[in-house]
Order: sequence, then structure tokens, then C-alpha cells
Amino acid sequence: MAKIIWEPSRTFGEFLLLPNLTKREHSPANVDLTSPLVKFKKGEKPALSLKIPFASAMMQSVSGAQMAVALGGFGGIAFIFCSQSVQDQANMVKETKSKGVLVGAGVNTHDYKDRIPPLVEAGADILCIDSSDGFSQWQEDVIKFVRGKYGDKVKIGAGNIVDSRGFEFLVKAGADFVKLGVGGGSICITREQKGIGRGQASALLEVVETRNKHFEKTGVYIPLCSDGGVAFDNHAIIALAMGADFLMMGRNFARYKESPSKIVTINGKQYKEYWGEGSARAQNWQRYGKEGGKGLVFEEGVDSYTDYAGPLADGLTKTLSKIKATMCNCGSLTLAEFTKNAILTVVSQASITEGGAHNVVVKP
Ligand code: IMP
Repeated sequence: MAKIIWEPSRTFGEFLLLPNLTKREHSPANVDLTSPLVKFKKGEKPALSLKIPFASAMMQSVSGAQMAVALGGFGGIAFIFCSQSVQDQANMVKETKSKGVLVGAGVNTHDYKDRIPPLVEAGADILCIDSSDGFSQWQEDVIKFVRGKYGDKVKIGAGNIVDSRGFEFLVKAGADFVKLGVGGGSICITREQKGIGRGQASALLEVVETRNKHFEKTGVYIPLCSDGGVAFDNHAIIALAMGADFLMMGRNFARYKESPSKIVTINGKQYKEYWGEGSARAQNWQRYGKEGGKGLVFEEGVDSYTDYAGPLADGLTKTLSKIKATMCNCGSLTLAEFTKNAILTVVSQASITEGGAHNVVVKP
């Protein structure tokens, strides 16, 4: 008989943090947002770390060279999209690398033997398998290929998964980090189309617990990347409090000037185009391969507009200020402390209403 999880599938917007004691040293200037990017042994330092816990999504409308340079300059990382020719992707990696920042590159489970060597040669610091379903033997094959050719020198993340079984499978396969999330992306219609996926918070909470147990048992820490479903800064904060090491975001970065898509003006308001990799526009059948054939049989993503948000530096600086402020409210100076100290509460619809401006007429 099918197993049922009766606990509802939760999203980040359903949680709030309780403040902890804020001591005098808890000032934003003292907060350190460093986060591990790849697995490491207890007592050792990871071979790669981020200075801020953000990665941009492997998407045509998000992560080109301009975004990679801007985000890399802040100490985050862009994963250059792989739904383009190997040469074009390698050129973007090379261009980013020439600015002296970390850069990642997406790879798929189809042409990886041809794609990975030029990306490594172009200077990619880390690879990540781009797939809507990471709990698959194809991912094992890609990691095996990397280990066989480069040993541990070339780093590779894998995903996406939503539970402990998927996590354990990818860890056993040798992933350097594990990415999670199915169906939570802003442009994603996978859950509607296929009835598969899980609320991002539920997925994250289960996998963090398993990851922590894995660390206790083996002494190897596996960083977790929470991918998709971060609509607002408060969602990012909740995800970090829940134990994500870094967050991959699509829409949030697509809004900025540095994303590759066009600015369009509709009724006097500026927007940026943002389309899913599973949309007909992206034609990324390698991510959404179906029935073993080439081509998209049905769409799992939409083509959309998102509000234009100006230069990344302005928006991201504000986001980072909010994270640091909350960490201080919660008596934490590092992300590890933040998640260790976090006490979260599920909110009711009434408390969500109470949490916004209410019973007032907000001035225009
Ligand atoms: P967002 O940050 O909520 O916009 O979600 C971005 C994430 O959605 C990406 O990193 C992918 O994991 C996922 N994604 C990208 N394109 C599609 C799609 O067409 N359908 C479903 N998920 C997608």
C-alpha cells in the first residue's frame, strides 16, 4: 500500500523565527556569512567556500557571465547554464574566471563526457548536475565519470532531491554538495503537471536532519543547497535558519540588471523576462528528458515577467543586511550558530495577516 505522510508539505512562508538573547557583540558588523560549498572532514576546512550563501540558478534567463561576475564579486557563485552549446558555456566560464571570481557550471546527464572537459579547461571551479530529478542512476554515472577522470580535484554537486533517500543516494555516489527542491520554483509547474514534488521547507527540514546524522556518524559534512521557492528575503532567512548552507535562486537574480534577459516596459512599469528551463522557450530537454527521447513532450515551466529590480549590488546589499539583522536578533554571528540556535514556529493565516501592515490605509 502507498505510504502517506499526513504532515502537510510546508513552505518557507509558513514559518517565523523566535528571537534569542541578543548580546552586545551581536552587531551586523561582526556577522560572518561564510558557508561551505563542498564536503569536508570534521576539523578540516572545505576546499571551496562562499562568502555569502547564494548561488544563481543554472538558467538561460539568470546566469550568464555578467551575472556571474557581479554575484562572484560579492562572494557568491553563479552556475552558468548548460542549455547552450559547450563552446558558448565554456566562453562564459572563461570570461567570468578572467575577473578573478569563483564560477560554477551546470552539466547535464546526456552530453557530460563532451561538456565537462572544456568546462574544466575553461576554469570552472565547480560543476553541478542540472536535473529536475536527482534521485537517478544517471547522476551516479556523471559523478563516476568525474571521479574516474579527475579524482577529487574537480568538484561536483548533484540534485535535486527532496528526502533522505535521495540525499543518501547522492552522497554514496560521491556528490560534493547536494541540492534539493522539486516543484517549488516560481516558474515551475511540475507539481501541477506531474503530481510530484514537496514543499521546500518540509524537504529541507528532513534532509538537514539526515545530513547532520551523517556528519555525526562519518565526520563528513555535506553542504546542502536549497533550490527554488525563495520568493522574498524572509524566505531566504528561514531557509538558512533551517540549515541550508546556501540558496540557489532564479527569479530573485533574474530581476537584476545583470541577468541576461531583456527589460520590457508594460504600462509604464519595467519588467525582466524570466522563463523556466522546462518551458518551450528554453528547450532544455536534457533537464526534463521524457520517454528517453529528445525534445520536450510537455512543459514543466512557464515563460514570464518579473519586476525589474535595478543593479544587483543595491538589492543584494539590502538582502544581506536583513539576514545579518535577523541573525543578531537570534543571537548568532555565524550561519552555523544561526541554525543551531534557531527556534521556528508555524504560523496561522491570521498571524500572516497580522505580520503585514493591517487595519491602516498605507500611503501611496
Ligand atoms: P525560483 O528561484 O523560485 O525562481 O526557482 C528557480 C529554480 O527552479 C531553478 O534553480 C530550478 O531548480 C527550477 N527550475 C528552473 N526552470 C524550471 C522549470 O521550467 N520548471 C520547474 N523548475 C524549474
